[in-house]
Formats: sequence, structure tokens, C-alpha cells
Amino acid sequence: MSAVRIGADSAAGTGADGTAGTRADSAAGIGAMLVTSRSFEEYVAMFALGTADLSGTVLDCPAGASSFTAGAHRVGTRATACDIAYGNPRAVLDSLRPEVERGNRYIAAHPDGYSDRFFGGPAEHLAHRLAAAELFTHDFLARPESYVHAALPELPFDDRSFDLVLSSHLLFSYADRLDVETHLVYLTELLRVARDQIRIFPLVPTGSSARYPQLGELRELLGARGVDTTVTEVDYEFQRGGTEMLVCRRR
Ligand SMILES: C[S@@+](CC[C@H](N)C(=O)[O-])C[C@H]1O[C@@H](n2cnc3c(N)ncnc32)[C@H](O)[C@@H]1O
Repeated sequence: MSAVRIGADSAAGTGADGTAGTRADSAAGIGAMLVTSRSFEEYVAMFALGTADLSGTVLDCPAGASSFTAGAHRVGTRATACDIAYGNPRAVLDSLRPEVERGNRYIAAHPDGYSDRFFGGPAEHLAHRLAAAELFTHDFLARPESYVHAALPELPFDDRSFDLVLSSHLLFSYADRLDVETHLVYLTELLRVARDQIRIFPLVPTGSSARYPQLGELRELLGARGVDTTVTEVDYEFQRGGTEMLVCRRR
């Protein structure tokens, strides 16, 4: 593996908009929204992705510094990543290591909130996510056309542009800062650009192991707008209780 440098050491995390975050990443909560580096393998497990899912076009929104798009490209999938943070590519690259370390400190400080089903412990989590951040860096620099600066609720894609849309660790995860109406508006926009379906994971807010409390209300609102939703158990657990994804399809 080459020696691409994934971010300078920094005392502060980076917020979703590329601004400096805080170190309030222990008992008080995760602090500024993390730009995380989940791996392709985590996405395959979190979203129960099979060969058919990876044979079409896929949008990852928000992709953060995930290596999903890089890994998908390696297996021949036409994937696109988009994120609000890509408006400042230098800040994304500089924040990778500090963000992985900030997330790692959070999980090490909250052992009861995390399962060892996917990662054997914090050390394995750190190594896995740093490797994912490195893959992301290579791909982000080599294939910038696959990384689109975009901000929900207005994505710069035509209706039904992607066979499958994946959305991990924004909706439901940050329930403390996104209300039900915002969830509905974001989901509606993700559905607009999806040809077949959208999948959202996990359904538990950060710091909780119980489902997003307004999930039933949100599903009713979606149903009234002609969207069928199902909750599906997947073979992945890192955040305790985070074992389900929401699948949404237009009727
Ligand atoms: C916790 S990360 C998840 C990244 C990736 N899906 C993963 O699982 O590793 C949340 C991401 O949401 C992005 N984000 C926050 N608000 C957004 C918005 N309105 N539109 C697009 N991206 C947004 C942040 O920049 C951040 O990268």
C-alpha cells in the first residue's frame, strides 16, 4: 500500500460544512458531525448488498470519506459519492485521520454502546477505518468525477438517475439535529433520484440502541405520499441495536 498521507494531526474534528468542530466527543455526545470512513465491506453488510444490487448504478449520499465508491469501482459497479463536505476537498483530506481518531475515541469511551460483531474492538476499528480512509483518498484524487459536491435536500441529479441509492449515518443517526420534517424532505429527495429504491442504515440515533422514536410517524407520512417502506434486519452490527435498514420504494 502506498504512503498517501491521510490528514494532518489536528486537535479538532471537522464539521459537515468543513468547519472546525469541537472535542466534545465523549460523554456530551459525538460533537460536530463526523465525516466518517466506513469501508466497502461495511456497506455490503449494512445494506445487504448482493451481486444484483452492485450491477446497476449506485449513489452513496452522504458518502463522507467512505471507501464504498472506491471499492465499488474495483468490482465494476458504477457508483457515485456525494456529500456537502466535498465543497472543500482540502479540508476533507486534511480531516480524515483526525476524524477517524475522533470517532475511535468516542467508541472507546462508550464500550456499552458498541458490539464486537464486526470489529473485535477499538484497535481493529481504528485500523479498518484508517485503511478505508486511505482507499477513499486514492480514489477521491484519481477519479474526482465520481465525487460530487451536493447538499440535501437538493441533489444535482435528474429524476431516477440511479438504480439504487444508499444513505448511511446521517438520517436517524443525527436525530438530535434533524427533525421529522427534515427527514421527510431528505428522503423525498433521495427517492426522486432513485429508479428503484433507497436504503437507509442504521435506524438508531447515535448514542442510542433503540429505533428512531418517530420512525412510525415518518413511515406513515411516506405512505401517504405513495412510498412503501419496509424495515429489514441485516447481518451487521457495530452500534448496538443498529441491525436494521429502511427500504423505501415509490408505489
Ligand atoms: C457520519 S458521516 C457518514 C458518511 C458515510 N455514509 C459513512 O457511513 O461513513 C455523515 C456525512 O453527512 C454529510 N452531510 C451532512 N449534512 C449533509 C447534507 N445536508 N447533504 C449532504 N451531506 C451532508 C457530512 O458531511 C458527513 O460526511
